[in-house]
Amino acid sequence: MAKSTTKKVSQKTETVEDEEIIEMEEDFIDEDLDEEVEEEFEDDSIEIDEGDLKSLPGVGPATRKKLVVGGYSSLRAIGFSSPKMIQEDCGLGEKTSMNIVRAAMEKLNLGFKSADKVWEKRKKIAQITTGSKELDDILNGGVETSSLTEFFGEFRTGKTQLMHQLCVNIQLPKSKGGLNGGAMYIDTEGTFRPERIISMADALDLDHKKVLKNITYARAYNSDHQIMLVKDAGKIIEENNIKLLVVDSLIGHFRSEYIGRGTLADRQQMLNSHLHDLLRLAEVHEIAILVTNQVQSKPDVFYGNPLRATGGNIIAHGSTIRIYLRKGKDDQRVAKIVDAPHLPESEAIFLITEDGIKGI
Ligand code: GTP
Ligand code: MG
Repeated sequence: MAKSTTKKVSQKTETVEDEEIIEMEEDFIDEDLDEEVEEEFEDDSIEIDEGDLKSLPGVGPATRKKLVVGGYSSLRAIGFSSPKMIQEDCGLGEKTSMNIVRAAMEKLNLGFKSADKVWEKRKKIAQITTGSKELDDILNGGVETSSLTEFFGEFRTGKTQLMHQLCVNIQLPKSKGGLNGGAMYIDTEGTFRPERIISMADALDLDHKKVLKNITYARAYNSDHQIMLVKDAGKIIEENNIKLLVVDSLIGHFRSEYIGRGTLADRQQMLNSHLHDLLRLAEVHEIAILVTNQVQSKPDVFYGNPLRATGGNIIAHGSTIRIYLRKGKDDQRVAKIVDAPHLPESEAIFLITEDGIKGI
C-alpha cells in the first residue's frame, strides 16, 4: 500500500531532489499507512509550516504534513514524545513513529550527555517575578521556565490572585522581571477575572488592553476537556509567543468526578498522564507552567502538617517545585517552598492588595 501511495506523489514531483526524499521515505514508512489520509495531504494548496522538520532524515513531505497536522511541528515536540503518542495523534505506523522519534532524539542530542551540558541548559532557564521581592528571593529570582510549579493551600490563600499576577508579570520586559511573553490560562473553576488583570496591569503602568489581549483564556468544563485543552496547547503556545501556562486548579474536576475509593486508581492514572503532558509542554516549549491545588484537611493525622495536597503522591512527584501557601495577618500570606530539588525549604511573606501581589 505504501508503494502505490508513494508513486502517486512521485508522479507529481519533478525535481530530482524531491524524488530522492520520497524514495527514502519508501523504506522508512511502515506498511500500514492509511491511504485515505495520505491522499488528503496530497492537496498542495494546504500550506503548512514545517518548522525544522525538514532536517529529519528519511521523512518525506507527506509524513511531515501528518506530523504537523497531528500537532508535532518541531523536532522538540517529537523528541520529547513517545512513539505511541505520535502513532495515535498522526495516524502513522508503529515502526515509522519509532524511527521518527529516534531520529529527532538524535538530532536534539537527547541521549546521555556530560554534566556541563546539563549546566549549559540550566543557565538558559529564566525567572519571572511574582510581585513580592521576598517570595522572588526564596525562589532564586521568581518562578522558573522549563518547569512546573505547584501552589497549594487552603481556600483564599491567594493561589488565584498569584496566577493572575504572573499572567501580567510575564508580559513585562526582562529588566523588570518578565519575559516579554504571553500567557495561557486554563480556568477550571470559573474564577478568572479580567478586571483583576486590568487593576494589576494599570498598577504596573502597562496598557491593560494589550495585557488582556496577550492572555489566551479557556474555561475547562470537565477533566476530559481540561486534558484536551492541554493536549492542543502546543500550537497556540508557539503561535502566540506564550511563555507561561496556568492551570487553576489542576485537581478540582478530577476530584469531583472520581468519587469513592473504587475509582482512585483510575483518577491517579488520568492525573499522572495529564501531569506528564504538562511537564512535556514545559520542556518542549521552555515555558513556565503553574498549577494550583487545594488542600484538604486530614483529621486522622496527629503530627506533622494535617493539610495534605489533594492528588496524593502523583502530584508530589510530578511537580518540579511545590509552594505551600497559608494565611497570615490580614492581607498577609505566607509561602513556603516544599521539596524543590535545588532550593532550601524557606518561607516568605507577601500581600494581596488592590494592585495585586506585593511585598511587605
Ligand atoms: P480558592 O480558589 O478558593 O482555593 O482560593 P485561592 O487560594 O485561589 O484564593 P484567591 O487567590 O482567590 O484569594 C482570595 C483572596 O484575595 C481573598 O482574601 C480576597 O479578599 C483577596 N482579594 C481578591 N481580590 C482582591 C482585591 O481586589 N483587593 C484586595 N485587597 N484583595 C483581594
Ligand atoms: Mg482560586
